[in-house]
Amino acid sequence: MINYLNSNFENYIEELKDFLRIKSISSKEEHKDDMINCANNVADKMRNIGLENVNVFQTEGHPIVYGDWLHAKGKPTVLVYGHYDVQPVDPLDLWDNPPFDPIIKDGKIWARGANDDKGQMFGHFKSVEAFMKVKGELPVNIKFLIEGEEEIGSPSLTKFLPKNKDLLKADCVLISDTSMFAPDTPTITYGLRGLTYMEIEVTGPNRDLHSGSFGGAVANPINELAKIISQLQDKRGKIKIPNFYDDVVKLTKKERDNFRKLKYSDKQLAQELGVKQLQGEEGYITLERLWARPTLDCNGIVGGYTEKGAKTVLPSKASAKISMRLVPNQDPKNIAKLFEKYVRSIAPKSIQLNVSDLHGGSPLLSPLTDKAVIAAAKATEKAFGKKTVYTREGGSIPIVVEFMKQLKATPILMGMGLDTDNIHSPNEHFLLKNLKYGMLSSLYFLEEYSKI
Ligand code: BES
Ligand code: MN
Ligand code: MN
Repeated sequence: MINYLNSNFENYIEELKDFLRIKSISSKEEHKDDMINCANNVADKMRNIGLENVNVFQTEGHPIVYGDWLHAKGKPTVLVYGHYDVQPVDPLDLWDNPPFDPIIKDGKIWARGANDDKGQMFGHFKSVEAFMKVKGELPVNIKFLIEGEEEIGSPSLTKFLPKNKDLLKADCVLISDTSMFAPDTPTITYGLRGLTYMEIEVTGPNRDLHSGSFGGAVANPINELAKIISQLQDKRGKIKIPNFYDDVVKLTKKERDNFRKLKYSDKQLAQELGVKQLQGEEGYITLERLWARPTLDCNGIVGGYTEKGAKTVLPSKASAKISMRLVPNQDPKNIAKLFEKYVRSIAPKSIQLNVSDLHGGSPLLSPLTDKAVIAAAKATEKAFGKKTVYTREGGSIPIVVEFMKQLKATPILMGMGLDTDNIHSPNEHFLLKNLKYGMLSSLYFLEEYSKI
């Protein structure tokens, strides 16, 4: 099977390039047809590798693609999850090569989705293909579930899941959509942060005003919005929303010790990001701040005159998008309520506030004792020829915790990406080497998991 993968690797790159050419941006209405195209492409991939019961489920949003092979009697069932949707590509002028025109350069494939998540999920398709073509069967039962709305909070899959528990029933969920701790370091991730994403819109006067004729007599929405934002965090990096930390599970001594054993350099990260030094919540090291502490960040802010030169104007409106990354056991809906309550309590009467909860997801902490995790660690060790490390992750994949809760399936986050791959950013890429590691890890995992 390894020979099969190696001798077909060039063809796989061409197939991945075709996959990456599809502009499957889930958040943009104008790409609706591209999303349908991409879902059909995924379904074709499933059929080509020998999956059965392939189905493109229509939803209120973008299609969900499913396929399975369930002939390994008495063996466990693996649900492979991934997402075919990608993030928008702006700012376009910062791409060295067009985002949907993939190229190979420096041992990497460059395109939007090269890592997140088309490139990463691709390895699982190819490991299944290798088994089916070489052996004619799989060592375990397998189900593939590939959605098109992960980047917008998985609204359709959230509804689909409880209605299709039998269809999706599995012992573990295998996912490659996270990062390795370091290059060439096999990594199993056991925690993801959750998310609450809010928008605040501040409205002042009923129209834009001359800032000389009216400035001083009426609240300026930008000034007031800035004041609100400045009151969300204190100098020590603590979030000031009352009761925000109530449900946060404290880090155990053991976990803190483990984090400190991982080779990690603040200096190197600062250098790589072009900042003089890092900054975060007092009393925690960087890995704790990223993986196990909740945070609040303004993601975007608009208002007033932003074009060239000066215009003396007191704007009617200003708005900001604010995300909070959550950790167990914070509840995204509850955090949204606390956020709104606090923002309203600090806003002056002179403005009108509109606070909306755009989307969210629960944080995840998964058990490391499950047989699937042990098989996964063995598999990645075999593929990389190195010891597997266990990490948590600062990013979110909101549906994963639902798999755990609703299907009672253990998540296996077997990421093949690197934090330097520029996901969500211009010049996204994926190392071809990691594509290969992904195929091998997936193959060995199916083998190992069938033995227990
Ligand atoms: N694959 C990422 C999650 C991730 C981020 C893994 C960083 C490793 C490092 C996923 O596609 C993602 O971007 N998730 C969103 C979720 C949100 C849109 C609901 C995120 O974390 O912002
Ligand atoms: Mn992803
Ligand atoms: Mn993403």
